[in-house]
Amino acid sequence: MKKHTAPIIYLDHSATTEPYPEVILRVGQIMCDTYGNPSSTHSAGRDARIIVEESRRGIAQMIGAMPSEVFFTSGGTESDNTVLMGAVLAGVRRIISSPIEHHAITATASQLSSTGINVEYVHIKENGDIDLEHLCSILEMPSEGKTLVSLMHAQNEIGNIYDIHAIGTLCHAHNAWFHTDAVQGMCHMDYDLKNSPVDFLSASAHKFHGPKGIGFLYVKSGIVLPSLLHGGEQERGMRSGTENTPAIAGMALALKMNKEEREKDHTHILELKKYLISRLKEIPGIRFNGRCKDLDKSLPSLVSVTLPIKKDPSMALLSLDMKGVCVSAGSACMAGAVRESFVISTLYGESNTMTGCPTLRISMGKWNVKEELDIAVDAIKSLL
Ligand SMILES: Cc1ncc(COP(=O)(O)O)c(C=O)c1O
Repeated sequence: MKKHTAPIIYLDHSATTEPYPEVILRVGQIMCDTYGNPSSTHSAGRDARIIVEESRRGIAQMIGAMPSEVFFTSGGTESDNTVLMGAVLAGVRRIISSPIEHHAITATASQLSSTGINVEYVHIKENGDIDLEHLCSILEMPSEGKTLVSLMHAQNEIGNIYDIHAIGTLCHAHNAWFHTDAVQGMCHMDYDLKNSPVDFLSASAHKFHGPKGIGFLYVKSGIVLPSLLHGGEQERGMRSGTENTPAIAGMALALKMNKEEREKDHTHILELKKYLISRLKEIPGIRFNGRCKDLDKSLPSLVSVTLPIKKDPSMALLSLDMKGVCVSAGSACMAGAVRESFVISTLYGESNTMTGCPTLRISMGKWNVKEELDIAVDAIKSLL
């Protein structure tokens, strides 16, 4: 089915993706036909329960997990919060993370730090990579209680992909739990968690063409995370609250379609990325951030650039928006605030020669075409 058309050039797929039309239909159909509460014991409830559990099985199979390891949440933020706070309730006394994680991690870690939990941040190199030697040296330091390491799979502003297998193996060698935020990775990469050193994984449906406000958390079999939400004990006591049957089914369908179309979409999006990079290189003095130009070490969808002009980032975004070009200055999850990106300042620190210059995150999707990139590059050039 073809996507609905909009009179804009949408290049902000790291913020959110257009839902598949099939997903929209499925969500609507379930809202009409299967509105029972999945916890009710009558037939309407049982029908809804069947959809919830079929969706769980489908998602589990697609990520190489067991259905009992998949818990439905309201999205990436809740999954991230649940892991960090739940792990502390389960006895974790040290959290190791990085300063360029999503705020759902860094803000939760800093809140936990104010309650006495030891929070350490691993160093980040100028290309956005994690300093694994530093991670190793922190893990080797003695700590009271269990340690949780939380490091994302793909960075949401610069697109770097991290080797979660190597990181998880290192964590397990030091008897630490490993959580990865796969919110940005799920749309573009395959996961097989069965034999992986990943203990917890967060995902969010609206980043892979599913509905907003729904996601899941993978918790490896054998680990019990105490619940943060108390009430009806849904999700086997891990997350109280009536399951959102339509959104859960929509998420399962979106992941299935995403997986089936992955190869074709990957080739297309990578072609777009190569083209975009070649066009942006026409701008003298432009800086490509992180590893976004290393095609095999970054998300195929994302290019982060800093423009060689002094300009308020919100004005730059507004000018592009007025030309119908939707991009972002960094993470969109700051409730509309456009500030200098903390990721860029972490990467370049004091040596940032482009302080005050706007950074643009351009993130492409399966329905973009080269002609849209030409219009976007022309609009970006007109800022200079
Ligand atoms: C890496 C990462 N983690 C977590 C989130 C939050 O996910 P959600 O919007 O589903 O709460 C985002 C959203 O941009 C993200 O990019």
